[in-house]
Amino acid sequence: MRTQVAIIGAGPAGLLLSHLLAQGGVSSVVLETRSEEYVAARIRAGILEHSSVELLESVGLGSRLRAEGDQHRGIYLQWPGERHHLDFVDLTGRSVWVYGQTEVQKDLIAARHADGQEIHYEVSGVELHDVTSDRPYVIFTDKSGQMQRLDAAFVAGCDGSFGPSRQAVPAAKAYEKVYPYSWFGILADVAPSTDELIYAWHPNGFALHSMRSDSVSRLYLQVPNGTDPRSWSDDRIWEELSTRLGHGQNGWKLNPGPITDKSVLPMRSYVQTPMRHGNLFLAGDAAHIVPPTGAKGLNLAIADVAMLGKALIASLKEKNPALADRYSDDAQRRVWRCTHFSWWMTTMLHTSGDPFDAELQLSQLRWVAGSRAGATGLAENYAGLPIGY
Ligand code: FAD
Ligand code: DHB
Repeated sequence: MRTQVAIIGAGPAGLLLSHLLAQGGVSSVVLETRSEEYVAARIRAGILEHSSVELLESVGLGSRLRAEGDQHRGIYLQWPGERHHLDFVDLTGRSVWVYGQTEVQKDLIAARHADGQEIHYEVSGVELHDVTSDRPYVIFTDKSGQMQRLDAAFVAGCDGSFGPSRQAVPAAKAYEKVYPYSWFGILADVAPSTDELIYAWHPNGFALHSMRSDSVSRLYLQVPNGTDPRSWSDDRIWEELSTRLGHGQNGWKLNPGPITDKSVLPMRSYVQTPMRHGNLFLAGDAAHIVPPTGAKGLNLAIADVAMLGKALIASLKEKNPALADRYSDDAQRRVWRCTHFSWWMTTMLHTSGDPFDAELQLSQLRWVAGSRAGATGLAENYAGLPIGY
């Protein structure tokens, strides 16, 4: 089979890219190892930046987001005895939206179905070939066990950190930082105990109170690497969340409820450069990973494909390769900004057990929360820079 762009991976990067390409009159075929149900249900990120929302709306993917998502003006930053609200709208004129990655994924799948997009789920043995030639192709085995060949002008590697695309970029420079802690995430059938997200520093470790809807809460605890989620009882999870989030302080209460999902997420920063090898382009987690503290992973994937979509459309429709030639450099500028922000948020909020580090963290938190300049720096990065930054 033949298409203009072979897209590996039906996560948010791959599906949004196929959507943007279709709107620009470019055909694509998407290959995905998992089933459609699996990719639609995977619980991951929850926060959309201002420019991600603008982009999704501008391409017809904003109606359920507007109706069912929740616009937030900012976040709370806290440490024992103090909670401060940072109002991003007041500080930067930009807000964020609470809208789960599962919902973004469902909207993308529905839109691609409506458009007749060719997506092959449950494929195996995906191999990229001749990506530096002008006739790259991908070999895969389809769901029925049939070996297939997909020819394309370009290949987009949107297959996350474990897919084959990253490995198909030789001589790439890779930067990596592994953090000595993980996030223990839970989903609970209980109304959020807060109107906006709470990022909490505590001597026991970081905690985050997020949410998915009026009746579903999402919460995270810093835990040591290698923690087995089954080793924590529900009572212990709620007790630790209550301690770290300040249950009882100034009358605030954390409402516990039935836990419906538990998972442990290791944390690392990873950047691979360049994000292009011949006619293979990397986007999203295939090229970079950020620790989740700045809520940037999903937003970076969206920003990458916004740029890549334009670049591939210009190459194929106008025979103008300028944007494709600049893609890796343009994308990396934002990638490094978000990599720095995520590292900064992570190291400011997670405890290491070192009393010197703890004093520096508290001093930084007091400055960020107490100074308009400090708060604006956090707000500008969290609510997100314009696409094309
Ligand atoms: P992915 O969503 O990983 O999509 C890649 C797709 O490629 C997958 O569907 C995969 O099945 C498919 N694939 C893999 N190999 C192949 C192959 N050989 N052939 C074809 N397809 C293949 N970010 C946050 O901001 N906040 C969070 O709380 C948060 N939580 C996370 C929790 C987990 C467990 C993980 C893994 C990530 C989390 N992230 C979070 C990061 C965020 O979800 C990602 O940055 C985002 O999903 C990136 O989108 P993507 O499309 O680039 O990659
Ligand atoms: C969520 C995840 C994050 O990484 C974050 O910084 C804020 C919220 C979430 O899953 O809701």
